Amino acid sequence: MLNFSEVEAVNMRQSVQEDAAPPLNIPLCAKYMRSFAYKTMKDRLPIILTKIIDGLVREKENVISCHGEKAREELKKVIGYISQLKNELQTDKPFTELSLIGTDAEIWNKHLKDNAKEIGVIPSYFQTDWMYAECYIYRRLQEAFLNTESLKKFDPFHWQKKEALDSAMRPIKSLAVLLNNIVVKNSNHSKDEIKNNFICLLKIALWGNKCDLSLSCGGAVSVDDNPLSMLKQYDHYMLVDDSEDVWKTLADCKGSTVDIILDNAGFELVTDLCLAEYLIVNCDIAKVRFRAKMMPWYVSDVMVKDFHYVINTLAEHQEPFSNIGNRWLNYVNQGKFEILADQFWTLPLNYYLMEKVDKELYDDLKSSKLLIFKGDLNYRKLVGDVSWPTTCPFKNALRGFHPAPLVSLRTLKADVVVGLRPGQAEETAAKASDWMLTGDFAVIQYDSEKHFS
Ligand code: F6P
Ligand code: MG
Repeated sequence: MLNFSEVEAVNMRQSVQEDAAPPLNIPLCAKYMRSFAYKTMKDRLPIILTKIIDGLVREKENVISCHGEKAREELKKVIGYISQLKNELQTDKPFTELSLIGTDAEIWNKHLKDNAKEIGVIPSYFQTDWMYAECYIYRRLQEAFLNTESLKKFDPFHWQKKEALDSAMRPIKSLAVLLNNIVVKNSNHSKDEIKNNFICLLKIALWGNKCDLSLSCGGAVSVDDNPLSMLKQYDHYMLVDDSEDVWKTLADCKGSTVDIILDNAGFELVTDLCLAEYLIVNCDIAKVRFRAKMMPWYVSDVMVKDFHYVINTLAEHQEPFSNIGNRWLNYVNQGKFEILADQFWTLPLNYYLMEKVDKELYDDLKSSKLLIFKGDLNYRKLVGDVSWPTTCPFKNALRGFHPAPLVSLRTLKADVVVGLRPGQAEETAAKASDWMLTGDFAVIQYDSEKHFS
């Protein structure tokens, strides 16, 4: 149990909102009103929660027909719980302990206790670290469903993920055609062609990260019909491009494993699968391990069932979708593609803590030739979600996290970025004042050696 009662906490808490940008070198926090954290907690998350409630009300009869009559009463309970959660968020209420359902609840409750000790009050949505506060919302959401009998495995973002895949079938078709042409075992492609095709797929996987449904609060995100044609023009928006270094890491990698720490389902996942197949067929990688989330997360993040859903959907479609879908199914069956979900990815913890908190996962990642971290949230966790000066080296921001050579493929959707040249942030801001938040700018950032700052 916590040492503070809620009443004490409310009394002690100074619900300070500062009309300022986040100061440098501290964890991002929604108390700074000129931060994306503030906008997210104040506007974006309430919209996301409202959309879940609307979806559950709209699809009530469908849900009941899939999950049984018991779900009728339980849906009311879930909707009530989510409405209350939204209210707690909007009134900046102190966090409460999770009921001990789910193997991770103890870790979350310990984190609450430790954080309360550290900051001297019970943490709340606008007063504690943004990373913790935002992750906590998604874990509480999961609790709403875990507390039922009939809806424990229910994914409230399922419809949005499905729609996102359906609406991306045209660009996926272009990708399938491209992949069918370049994924050829023992082809007469020159070394340069193999490298160029790899970098092209790496960049497609990078820009696929524009398609998360959290930034759009669950709204549709359109993708250019021909993702290949957009690459040249997108190059102007790349702030750091370490793709050559990534390629060098893959030299001499026969029989090795690569890990992709996944981000979003739908189109982005398809781009990741394309890259993975290319690694297997053209780069001599023996296995690609995909790391997914254990619970519905940040609207569109991939869970194991989303991974299978995307591959099966493509396999059941006509050509050229069925070509890629069936090949990927075979890789899954042969163990060349492996999908894994570890609890650590949905804890509110930055990655420099992984070695201490989940040694097993850390050691598992050590066996990888290359770790590919997808997306904005993974980036935030890599660099500790701190408002670093933009010229802080990537290596320093990782604070010793280095199980293996790693690369981040990230479109910028939060006000943190490192590894820029002096003056580069200012130049970019002059072009677009919201450059850190729109997903229009991106980095391919690589780190090869272990380093402690
Ligand atoms: O809401 C916070 C956030 O991390 C944003 O910064 C970003 O819009 C979104 O969630 C997740 O983006 P991604 O899917 O790229 O991790
Ligand atoms: Mg995501």
